Amino acid sequence: MNQPTPPLDGTPRHTEADETNVRALVEAFYRRVDDDPLLGPVFARELTGRWDEHLAKMTTFWSSLVLGSKQYRGNVQEAHRPLGDIEPQHFARWLALFLNTVEARYEPAAAVLFMEPALRIAQSLQLSKFGWDYRIPEEQVALLAALKRMRTGKEATDPPARGGGEPFPARFVGRGAGED
Ligand code: HEM
Repeated sequence: MNQPTPPLDGTPRHTEADETNVRALVEAFYRRVDDDPLLGPVFARELTGRWDEHLAKMTTFWSSLVLGSKQYRGNVQEAHRPLGDIEPQHFARWLALFLNTVEARYEPAAAVLFMEPALRIAQSLQLSKFGWDYRIPEEQVALLAALKRMRTGKEATDPPARGGGEPFPARFVGRGAGED
């Protein structure tokens, strides 16, 4: 994050998210997931015949978070509950691929808007899956703290975000479809 690296294919990084580049991010990320020896088989097993639906849903999900488009209706915890064979290494790989894909495509100020919720939701999914006394890997904790410092440092004059002391992704992570 601190060391800007040249974009992989010479394309400038986006300074802001929009519908088109969110869709492209989602497609690029799941191409890498699909190719990954650890994650690929899990997603192939779960999403056979449903990839298009998944990509559309994930585009809506990230647009809701990052663009505030408020279209996503779902329950992230419930969606992952059936995945019984997921281990800490799966989360580490998911995060590595996601953070890396985001970093290659967005300038840091925009990248943070994807990275922070991804890390928070990953933490919440790991605690649900591995038990509430599971210790989140130190590098995830440290990265989340660094991203938060970066965001709050840059946006110190913002009004209190998302109100009510609600943890940022709670409305996406914990509630049932259709609730608001
Ligand atoms: C070990 C890491 C992960 C694995 C293996 C995994 C796997 C999956 C699979 C297979 C689905 C499709 C469920 C279905 O439709 O049957 C899914 C859905 C989803 N995942 Fe993950 N996931 C992981 C981590 C994450 C993380 C960290 C996030 C945080 C952004 C996330 C966000 C979502 C969302 C929003 C959905 C759609 C939920 C819905 O149906 O409304 N996933 N995931």
